[in-house]
Amino acid sequence: MRLLLLTCLFLMSCSKQEVNSVSREIPEPNSPGANLLLEFCNECHVYPDPASKQAIYWTQTLPRMRKHREQRGLPTMNKNQERELLAYLQRNGASK
Ligand code: HEC
Repeated sequence: MRLLLLTCLFLMSCSKQEVNSVSREIPEPNSPGANLLLEFCNECHVYPDPASKQAIYWTQTLPRMRKHREQRGLPTMNKNQERELLAYLQRNGASK
């Protein structure tokens, strides 16, 4: 049973990577902010395009997404990670 579960998790993580590798480009690839976006914003829906929102609106979205994570028992970002991701989203957010 345990082995089956691990195998499932393994397969899931593999297919996830494939999805990522063929998905659209993101700004500043491989930067800390981009990595956080892929790690923390990709489980429930496909990670959002930073340019989909104006900078100020990202401030409101992140706490809501944190709540979604908490409700599902998923690990949340620490303060530094949250700050890093917010700065990244705002840097690359829509200007208007
Ligand atoms: C635990 C599941 C979960 C995770 C992880 C998650 N989201 Fe969401 N997201 C949702 C749900 C549910 C909705 C629709 C309800 C809502 O808007 O709160 C949503 C909607 C959104 C929307 C569209 C609504 C809007 O405000 O424009 C954006 C953008 C978004 N998420 C961004 C993010 C970002 C950025 C992250 C990473 C920090 C993230 N999500 C991580 C569950 C999640």
